[in-house]
Amino acid sequence: MAKNIVTTRLFRNLVKGSEHCISRHSYRSCSSSACNQTCRSWAVHKYGGSMQMAVDGRIPVITDPNDVLIKVSAASVNPIDIKMTGGYGRKLIHTMRQMDGMACSVKELPLTPGRDCSGTVVATGSNVTNYRPGDEVWSAVAAHRPGTHADYVLTAASAVSRKPSSLSHVDAASFPYVACTVWSALCTMGGLHPRNTPMKRVLILAGSGGIGNFAIQLMKAWGANVTVLCSTSAIDTVASMGPDCIVNYESDHVETELKKYEGFDVILHNVGSGKYAQAINVLKSWNNSQYISIDTPMLSSTDSLGLIAGSATACSILGVKTLQGLMEGKYYKWAFFQPHGKALSTVADLIDKHQISPNVERVYAFDELPLAYERVTGGHLLGKIVIDVAGTS
Ligand SMILES: NC(=O)c1ccc[n+]([C@@H]2O[C@H](COP(=O)([O-])OP(=O)(O)OC[C@H]3O[C@@H](n4cnc5c(N)ncnc54)[C@H](OP(=O)(O)O)[C@@H]3O)[C@@H](O)[C@H]2O)c1
Repeated sequence: MAKNIVTTRLFRNLVKGSEHCISRHSYRSCSSSACNQTCRSWAVHKYGGSMQMAVDGRIPVITDPNDVLIKVSAASVNPIDIKMTGGYGRKLIHTMRQMDGMACSVKELPLTPGRDCSGTVVATGSNVTNYRPGDEVWSAVAAHRPGTHADYVLTAASAVSRKPSSLSHVDAASFPYVACTVWSALCTMGGLHPRNTPMKRVLILAGSGGIGNFAIQLMKAWGANVTVLCSTSAIDTVASMGPDCIVNYESDHVETELKKYEGFDVILHNVGSGKYAQAINVLKSWNNSQYISIDTPMLSSTDSLGLIAGSATACSILGVKTLQGLMEGKYYKWAFFQPHGKALSTVADLIDKHQISPNVERVYAFDELPLAYERVTGGHLLGKIVIDVAGTS
């Protein structure tokens, strides 16, 4: 009987062509009133095309017992959302979708972007025991399952945690994607944690963006000595995050300036376009020091050369840099965003203890999403851009 229901629902999803259909064969049906409502979502129907809002989109149905369905209250806009609407990362992300066994694996479009949110659980899969409908949560969703720029999103329960109680949904939504990326870089790859971070000298190459703002605050909360780069116009905002030293990257002698502070234990390379290629020179030698870059050619390389040639090319670049680093007694690493509910729990505690604060430049209404994308595309942000999906702020 249950199998028949699963099959019927699955068939219905496939026939409807919903971008949310998933081929996992176990579920608890959505029992909340949410299932009878419609769902608004923004999507691109072709890469490079304009975003269009669907007001009659179907609410995703839980088919994986490990998933939760979240009613999104607010979501942030990250540069990756805009890049993905142009097809960035499509080959690797499509493969991840296929590996995850998603029935719609052949269907990349329409694509609803959005990688993080703050909202309320409306339904849970049968294996989910730690969340119930009504729980206020936040989440950063997996690369191959984006979609928080909509009223509802499905995600793995392991990517979710309770939102900080001291923050509104709008402020909370400014954190999950950047927090999980920084966690992946500095904690998972860099091995930093509250006990080994005090007095570590950390250099953050871009202090003023979403990643930089969060990285400064996490490192300061854990007792590191933090140096950052930023432009003249961002100095006041960046200073409010509490770094020990700010270097103005618009000065004529940035490399010389950085040399003055050399001897870093950790460098976070979070700026694009091949900038600061020589920054590894200011890392300590033979002292377990780490250069961690989140600006990697992996996605662009697989997009242009295909999965095998592209990943082989990217890995050969990583291999050369790793060997060059090792010859000087330095670890060179790449890091990628990973969903991480447990990390978000730790971050929520730090926020509720007022050790980390939100920095939101502007909040846009849901129907203003294209303006929010334009703002992020324009760059030079002085805080995160957030979409008030539920219109509560
Ligand atoms: N590997 C991954 O999984 C992953 C995940 C997330 C992000 N990322 C990468 O991480 C980077 C930062 O992401 P984000 O979300 O923080 O982007 P963002 O909010 O747009 O911030 C980028 C920051 O870089 C600053 N910047 C530009 N040129 C600079 C320079 N020469 N020196 C120092 N800072 C400079 C910009 O400041 P201005 O105002 O001065 O221009 C801006 O504040 C991006 O390259 C993104 O692709 C990677």
